Amino acid sequence: MNPVACLRLPASAATPPSPSRCRAASQPPRSVSRLPPRASSSTAAYTTKVYRNANIAKLQAGYLFPEIARRRAAHLLKHPDAKIISLGIGDTTEPIPEVITNAMAERAHALSTVDGYSGYGAEQGEKKLREAIAATYYGDHGIEETDIFVSDGAKCDISRLQVLFGSNVKIAVQDPSYPAYVDSSVIMGQTGLYQQDVQKYGNIEYMRCSPENGFFPDLSSVPQTDIIFFCSPNNPTGAAASRDQLTQLVKFAKDNGSIIVYDSAYAMYISDDSPKSIFEIPGAKEVAIETGSFSKYAGFTGVRLGWTVVPKELLFSDGHPVAKDFNRIVCTSFNGASTLSQAGGLGCLSPEGLKAMQDVVGFYKENTDIIVDTFTSLGFNVYGAKNAPYVWVHFPGRNSWDVFAEILEKAHVVTTPGSGFGPGGEGFVRISAFGHRENIIEAARRLKQLYK
Ligand SMILES: Cc1ncc(COP(=O)(O)O)c(C=O)c1O
Repeated sequence: MNPVACLRLPASAATPPSPSRCRAASQPPRSVSRLPPRASSSTAAYTTKVYRNANIAKLQAGYLFPEIARRRAAHLLKHPDAKIISLGIGDTTEPIPEVITNAMAERAHALSTVDGYSGYGAEQGEKKLREAIAATYYGDHGIEETDIFVSDGAKCDISRLQVLFGSNVKIAVQDPSYPAYVDSSVIMGQTGLYQQDVQKYGNIEYMRCSPENGFFPDLSSVPQTDIIFFCSPNNPTGAAASRDQLTQLVKFAKDNGSIIVYDSAYAMYISDDSPKSIFEIPGAKEVAIETGSFSKYAGFTGVRLGWTVVPKELLFSDGHPVAKDFNRIVCTSFNGASTLSQAGGLGCLSPEGLKAMQDVVGFYKENTDIIVDTFTSLGFNVYGAKNAPYVWVHFPGRNSWDVFAEILEKAHVVTTPGSGFGPGGEGFVRISAFGHRENIIEAARRLKQLYK
């Protein structure tokens, strides 16, 4: 089957055309009749009487990364001896520095003692860790311990933020962008149906980011939205917005009365003078939330630890502090990050831990250089990479899924098709720099063989 056709299939052929916004997630679309359960036959499965959430039915065939994993598994079935190298999903590969695991081990052992045992912690995170995050990443920007909500990761916080905003908001995203923003918006019922012809959901503003505009949207042509998801350094393009660009973004949000959700999960990869936080921009505390993560700095993709900053200066239109409502969401749907992860987080932010994280980031940045050299020596235009662990490679005029399939089939290397991040990613492939050095070198060798 044509892989593109497969991914673009509507998730439910039964979903009829509907108004561009669906605010009643629990209601079935009007023209879907509430049919009585089919008469059971010996082969028919039992069905409950519960209607499927119509918003989930709007989602396309699969979340991007599980879909890639499925194709990788299918490739392995076909070529059982292939030594597949995975530069796709963007999962970390290098061991967690011992200074960090020691902190977790110590806390784990303490849990076996009467004095060291602790149960539920504060939903917002341990005071010491909140203080350390505020001091380490936001020391000069007026962010305080109480503005920090420690979490089990940035992705989880993106969904919690969507619950905070509810179904009655319109979002803008960079195009291409990390899929969690769009998919969580669809699930919340903020969007219309997926429109095959433009490959976009109704009622989402896609802000095109391409080499032509330096991967920063032309804000003069972006209509007002309630929420603006903005990721810098960006996944997947690897582009980091400059101070001037972020100043424009903050002004744009303020002029429109919007809230920016700024995803800085890769901030420690910044090598130039691009801001590492939106709160470096004057006035940002009145218009922005920021989410961060230890996943890509300390190899915490499995350990799970992140945070979200909701400044007390950020207010809804009725003057109610956003942080108060976020606190309510966190207390309702989350019981705090794991004690062990939080001990690891404190290890990360000790002087030795910070140095160790910088070394991990430096290692992946060397991988990035190898991948960039490989593609530039083959004559490709590559973007990103300088401030991020992602290389955004242009295959002009080609379909991203075809390039993905070609590289998998012929080089046994898993990449990520750019179009999986939005229509603006068509013609690009994202190569992740997370990998053991020998695998990166071997992947580079195979890619040179393929495209020489
Ligand atoms: C931009 C971006 N935000 C958030 C995440 C998820 O981070 P976490 O592991 O903290 O959930 C990722 C993971 O790849 C990401 O690329």
